Amino acid sequence: MLGAIGCATDGLEELRTGLVRPAIEHGWQVAVTLTPTAGRWLRDIRELELLEKLTGLPVRDEPRLPSEARPHPYADCLVVAPASANTVAKLATGFGDNQALTQVAEAIGTPGVPVVLFPRINAAHARHPAWEGHIAALRRGGVRLVHGPDVWPLHEPRREPGNVRIPWAAILAAAENEIHRQSGVQS
Ligand SMILES: Cc1cc2nc3c(=O)[nH]c(=O)nc-3n(C[C@H](O)[C@H](O)[C@H](O)COP(=O)(O)O)c2cc1C
Repeated sequence: MLGAIGCATDGLEELRTGLVRPAIEHGWQVAVTLTPTAGRWLRDIRELELLEKLTGLPVRDEPRLPSEARPHPYADCLVVAPASANTVAKLATGFGDNQALTQVAEAIGTPGVPVVLFPRINAAHARHPAWEGHIAALRRGGVRLVHGPDVWPLHEPRREPGNVRIPWAAILAAAENEIHRQSGVQS
């Protein structure tokens, strides 16, 4: 079971075709959780219903009531992609004020549940004085980051070439590597 967590960034509209469908084709069952803003964005373009049809599970973008059953099975691995600068900062400092953050923060603290994260950021986000500290905190928490000039060269805000795409294949490959590494650790 792969938990796919999406944030409100450019490229989110490709979550289904870039990550969820390929993961299902690789044999994963996928459960999608979105930040509240990402949920609004995908509902607006009718992607939410397509994701639900494809995964056979509700897309979560708000917490359940205590009286409601958990709508998703527990995930063996979480992929946060795309991760906004905002969600990276919140995760690094331990915030859990929406369903997506709650799930990822708990997984970071749970041995045996790998978390793979792709920060979909620009050069200005990376120059923020807190950024390096956030990345270091996530690394210390064992988060596998998909970043760096090979996979995601940074561009200035509003100067991104029109053809940049989220490196979905590298993100899914990182998740599969983490799961294989984990099963090696456990056996
Ligand atoms: C059209 C649009 C594109 C955006 N793209 C990005 C982006 O690529 N990376 C990013 O960190 N924030 C981006 N943002 C800003 C985030 O949407 C904003 O920080 C939001 O609060 C993130 O919420 P979330 O982290 O809860 O999903 C974008 C905003 C808009 C309106």
